Amino acid sequence: MSRPAASKTADPFTPLAEEPRYEPPRAGIDSDTSKSWLRRAMPIVKAHKLSFFLALSLSFVGLVLQVQIPNLLNRAIDTAIVGHRAPLSFYVYWILALGVLGGISSYISRLAIYKTAYSIEFDLRNIIYEHLAKMSFSFYDRVQSGQLISRANSDIRSVQMYMTFAPLILVQCSIALVAFAFMLSINVPLAIVAMLTMPLIYFVSVKMRKSMFPVSWIIQARLADVATIVDENVNGVRVVKSFAAEDQQLRALANAATRLEWSYVKDADLRARFTPAVQNLSQVGLVLVLLFGGYMVIHGQLGLGAILAFNAYLLMMQVPFNMLGMLIMMSQRAAASADRIYEILDEHSEIVDRPGAVDLVECRGEVHFERVGFSYPGGDRPRVLDGFELRIAPGETVAIVGRTGTGKSTVARLLTRFYDVDEGAVRIDGHDVRDLTLASLRASVGVVLDEPFLFSVSIRDNIAYGRPTATLEEVRRAARAANAEEFIEELPEGYETIVGERGYTLSGGQRQRIAIARALLVNPPILILDDATSAIDVHVEQKIHDALSRLMASRTTLVIAHRLSTISLADRVVLLDRGRIVADGTHAELLESDPLYAEVLAKAAEDDLTRSEVGRL
Ligand SMILES: Nc1ncnc2c1ncn2[C@@H]1O[C@H](COP(=O)(O)OP(=O)(O)OP(=O)(O)O)[C@@H](O)[C@H]1O
Ligand SMILES: [Mg+2]
Repeated sequence: MSRPAASKTADPFTPLAEEPRYEPPRAGIDSDTSKSWLRRAMPIVKAHKLSFFLALSLSFVGLVLQVQIPNLLNRAIDTAIVGHRAPLSFYVYWILALGVLGGISSYISRLAIYKTAYSIEFDLRNIIYEHLAKMSFSFYDRVQSGQLISRANSDIRSVQMYMTFAPLILVQCSIALVAFAFMLSINVPLAIVAMLTMPLIYFVSVKMRKSMFPVSWIIQARLADVATIVDENVNGVRVVKSFAAEDQQLRALANAATRLEWSYVKDADLRARFTPAVQNLSQVGLVLVLLFGGYMVIHGQLGLGAILAFNAYLLMMQVPFNMLGMLIMMSQRAAASADRIYEILDEHSEIVDRPGAVDLVECRGEVHFERVGFSYPGGDRPRVLDGFELRIAPGETVAIVGRTGTGKSTVARLLTRFYDVDEGAVRIDGHDVRDLTLASLRASVGVVLDEPFLFSVSIRDNIAYGRPTATLEEVRRAARAANAEEFIEELPEGYETIVGERGYTLSGGQRQRIAIARALLVNPPILILDDATSAIDVHVEQKIHDALSRLMASRTTLVIAHRLSTISLADRVVLLDRGRIVADGTHAELLESDPLYAEVLAKAAEDDLTRSEVGRL
């Protein structure tokens, strides 16, 4: 929310006097799907080219400096220590200076590479989040939220790792060439002997990564399984406990945990096999240098320093060779992750502002569903609405009544353009909603759902969600109108009480009243109440009726309700059945003329009774 928290403690890790603001990503993904994944991601790297270039070049400089040291060591031993031909201090100073400079440049390059890595990650996350925010409801109907969350976390991480660290590894490998050149310049035969084990190290490490790669995928998947079970246990704890299904859940968790454990052990097994092999191979290299180099030193063909220098070079080269294997694994993983990210990014919302869309201004609130035909997107879904025709005059309150699953909520979703109609049109003040900007449309149509979502912020911020700048007095007025003021003031911290995750510390009826207050504060010219009072006690509902009817008087209202008491607030009732309006009139008229209407109401009353009985249990 825009207001700063009441008590801001001085935290050394938060930038002071700076409200974090959402910044749109600096670059996007290339939309050309025929390109390779890396080329599609290049615009993001380009947005950070300065720090990236700084990191790579300084890393190169640091390594070049480092590579000199063993060579200097060689000469220090041969000329100063053994040969007494030069002062030792000369070499000591040089080595110290190179060490310090190398240290500084590798410090700066590390800082720059991590900064680049996290900026790329930040941008990728923003790109995905911005895209998700634009996606339509039909997209969310299809995808699993767990999948989205994992794509927004681990997949971004693996793409980022590859994009930033792969070039760094390549720079390090190029240094291995420089080191080899130095070795050649010292002694050609010994350089060749020393390099004998390098290809072996490379092959073993590639083999290691190849066998470990599938295991690491399995670990990822099983971690997600465990997380899903834990998540369901926490969020569904009420269901679990009410069916006394704790044991069943624990068994499911134990199952998933055992499977995860197996994959971890497998991973450890592979690691335990390969790591010593790689390490011992480099020892073999050192032994070879000692054997051949020692022989040459004994026969006076080589200085003692050369053996030490070769040792140092070999150790230096071992790292990049080992990393080459890692590079292969990283590239495979990054490609798979990028595919999964692009799968989301390449989907485009069908519900967007049409070119030339206009703002809905000074909405009078005239609503017209013009022979609407609609079925939910995806395959052969049945027709929910078919030839649905309904006109609502400005300021009128209309109740939609119908059996469960007939499409009442669907009517509400079409008016807010959560979905687009297949046939006909939905018009507000004569404008097709598809010709209006989404922002102005949704600002003009307020919706209260039967299971309102509350955020884990204060009650005040929850009510002011649609108008964060509202004053406390305005928030109070809205709460009073929704008959929520009384219970809010009884809470220990009143309006500042933080609502528990998903609002579980409040009862269903209390949450509904907060949601009504939230809609009232925005004061939209068109209001939809979709079963918005279903969880509110009949007695309490009576109390908010006054407020509700006052509110309805000044705006167009669509009420979806089962209860007679709520229906009685409406000027007119329509009966929805099999995709269209089958009866239209006042409550009394319908009750008299339409047997289906009486049946639907009787069924609703029965449900209500059951509900209140269950509530009393
Ligand atoms: N997101 C969706 N994707 C596919 N089908 C859906 C979706 N939402 C609803 N439906 C189907 O469309 C039909 C109408 O649903 P709708 O939610 O509009 O019913 P309703 O009249 O509001 O019911 P209730 O009184 O129980 O709230 C139902 O058969 C339902 O299964
Ligand atoms: Mg519904």
